[in-house]
Amino acid sequence: MLPHIDIINQILPDQSVICIIGSDELPEWLSLSSSEISYVKRCLADKEELICVNSYFKLSIIIREKDEANVYTRHEKLRRTAVLAAELIKKHKKTAFTICSYQSDKNAISVFAEGLVLGVYSFSKYKEKSMEDDLSIYPQNISLYGDIDKKDIEWLSAIWGSVYFARDMVNEPLSHLNTEIFAEKIFEFGEAAGLKVENYGKKKIESLKMSGLIAVNKGSVDPPAFSILEWKPENPINSKPVILVGKGVVFDTGGINLKPGSSLDDMKSDMAGGAVVAAVLAAIARTKLNIHLIGLIPITDNRPGLNAIVPGDIISMENGKTVEVLNTDAEGRLILADALIYADNYDPSLVISVATLTGSAENAFGNQAIAAMGNAGDDIFRILREAGYEVHERIAEMPFFSEYGEMMKSDIADLKNIGGKKAGAITAGKFLENFTISPFIHLDIAGTAMFDKKEFYHPKGGTGYGVRLLAGFLKQLVNGNNKL
Ligand code: BES
Ligand code: ZN
Ligand code: ZN
Repeated sequence: MLPHIDIINQILPDQSVICIIGSDELPEWLSLSSSEISYVKRCLADKEELICVNSYFKLSIIIREKDEANVYTRHEKLRRTAVLAAELIKKHKKTAFTICSYQSDKNAISVFAEGLVLGVYSFSKYKEKSMEDDLSIYPQNISLYGDIDKKDIEWLSAIWGSVYFARDMVNEPLSHLNTEIFAEKIFEFGEAAGLKVENYGKKKIESLKMSGLIAVNKGSVDPPAFSILEWKPENPINSKPVILVGKGVVFDTGGINLKPGSSLDDMKSDMAGGAVVAAVLAAIARTKLNIHLIGLIPITDNRPGLNAIVPGDIISMENGKTVEVLNTDAEGRLILADALIYADNYDPSLVISVATLTGSAENAFGNQAIAAMGNAGDDIFRILREAGYEVHERIAEMPFFSEYGEMMKSDIADLKNIGGKKAGAITAGKFLENFTISPFIHLDIAGTAMFDKKEFYHPKGGTGYGVRLLAGFLKQLVNGNNKL
């Protein structure tokens, strides 16, 4: 559940506050007693960064902003400190409080609030005593005072809602989020945000000859789905749409190349790319960003059912290329290929795929960066890289040399779906490049979609990683007047 946020223009003396200060000076409106003020001053002299004054009827938390040279580090530090502040608030059972700033960074309130709300997320609906029953410790109302306007809040609220959605989707197990339910959830979430959403079922998928999706789905008992989301404002900055394509494998057993025991643990997260795509589109629609944007999400599970594809099978893709399936566990690229082919029908200016595609990406960067690659050109990559620094969902760029593409050539078909042990994240990206003629970027979120322990404002489980990156990137495309 998301807390309610509003802007206030006055702080009353009995309000609990979190105040971010940029110097050792304290604002008057904190209404602290003289002994409390001298306590805070002593702490500040000792270089304490988080000072808590409990005046019984109210709590005052003072955060001294660090003089980090780099604005990105300063912002990330505030997001992380917000999690500590939230814990104190919870401990003191304050359900309402105000975040304010004094002589601090212009965006201090906004990034602090961002970290706080992202940090209090919990997925407890399957517990007997869920968070919803325990509202007394949840921050129900957050007021903001100072350097923040309505537009900032609208953006933040949209981002929070979308990140929460993406996390929820990843955390839901297959028993509660099969293909049909995932497609429905995307539909509901997208429509509520103001998007046009359409879900294709098996018949339509067959008529469109989405051979990769049909092949992967053959081992499943549930039919496949394909979600299309669209945001089209009246006079968008782009005449050709930007298309986001997300992998929606609701569970990846590996298929006939069944994954070994512990590799199966987190595979309910294999639809994270699809969740990110739906979440980003919803955030853009909610904030009415002036860009024409389309989301494509192929959905299925990957199972070793009786009719499942087997190694050696050959699939004829709709763009005329044939693929030899040498490993049924490399399924994501097969279903994404269909979506990429479909994307080209819109004559897009840019296509970005988002997927938990390879263990190789996770091995390379752990959970600290999204593996990024493509042929869309340096200007676009620069904006993406910058957006990543801004929200601390950083990308690590990988080379995209044509030689890596050679590794995907099959002896008996045009392509094979695995490229060998080496450079696995890149060869997967190269495979995908065969299925679109549009400028293309591929983001492999296998390392970042799900965390095995809480890290600051990222919870254990689904993180929603990629939502803030792509939403920030698209916002920059619009605000920076970039040519697409
Ligand atoms: N869904 C997995 C990739 C993955 C691994 C996601 C770890 C999240 C965490 C993907 O479908 C897969 O199985 N990839 C194989 C490809 C290989 C067979 C070429 C892999 O990375 O091992
Ligand atoms: Zn797989
Ligand atoms: Zn997979």
